[in-house]
Amino acid sequence: MPAIHIQELSKIYPGEPPVLALDKVDLTIEPGEFVALLGPSGCGKSTLLNLVAGFEKTSSGSLTVHGKPVDKPGPDRGVVFQEAALFPWLSVWENVIFGPKTQGVPAKDYEARANEMLRIVGLADFKQHLPVQLSGGMRQRVGIARILTMGSQVLLMDEPFGALDAQTRLSMQELLLSVWQQLKPTIVFVTHDIDEALFLADTVYVMSARPGRIQARITVPLARPRTIEDTTGETFNTMKREILKQIRH
Ligand SMILES: Nc1ncnc2c1ncn2[C@@H]1O[C@H](COP(=O)(O)OP(=O)(O)O)[C@@H](O)[C@H]1O
Ligand SMILES: [Mg+2]
Repeated sequence: MPAIHIQELSKIYPGEPPVLALDKVDLTIEPGEFVALLGPSGCGKSTLLNLVAGFEKTSSGSLTVHGKPVDKPGPDRGVVFQEAALFPWLSVWENVIFGPKTQGVPAKDYEARANEMLRIVGLADFKQHLPVQLSGGMRQRVGIARILTMGSQVLLMDEPFGALDAQTRLSMQELLLSVWQQLKPTIVFVTHDIDEALFLADTVYVMSARPGRIQARITVPLARPRTIEDTTGETFNTMKREILKQIRH
């Protein structure tokens, strides 16, 4: 069963005039697949992600996650935005365990996992820090650890590293690859950065400008595990040229 299955999905935002944001999108994403949605600003990337997240309602077509129709947000799908939505008055630890704790799950059932996730994102030594004491990249890592602690199998990421400086951005990309390698969640990663899409994903879907459609599906042939050196070779440059052509099409 696919992790995410989308058939003829359209989204119209009501208004005068209405906006056709997505036009009959078909998409099948397998469990553990790392997918990048790439396209120019306004092409409907966030709309598509928000529909999968259950924040928005579909206008027509079908959308299932692990076989179940999506009609509201759920802990099976964790969402990461450009800024991590952390509680500023809670420590890193309290932020990470917030979900299970407030749902009344006994501490012994989530503590080991929360510790493990903090270790995987490299924040084991920052449990007592407050968000304000962390860098932007570290706050994003807390957000990722929190989702993984909830047990989400699907990570929906909307330009999550867009606000970070180039160095931090690269180390976050490497960190995300290492998290994915270890836990194999299904990831849908929205970006308008071709290099980022190719470095991270198994499959890149190029979306066309309004109305949003899937214009091309590209399988990234780079071996794993990947390092930043893989983004300088001939294969990489050929793919990049190919995608640029698609986007300008
Ligand atoms: N809540 C909304 N109401 C009306 N129009 C919207 C809304 N959200 C997005 N849109 C429109 O839908 C289109 C796609 O937007 P969006 O999904 O945010 O694109 P992207 O994330 O690719 O930049 C744009 O034309 C945008 O103006
Ligand atoms: Mg967007």
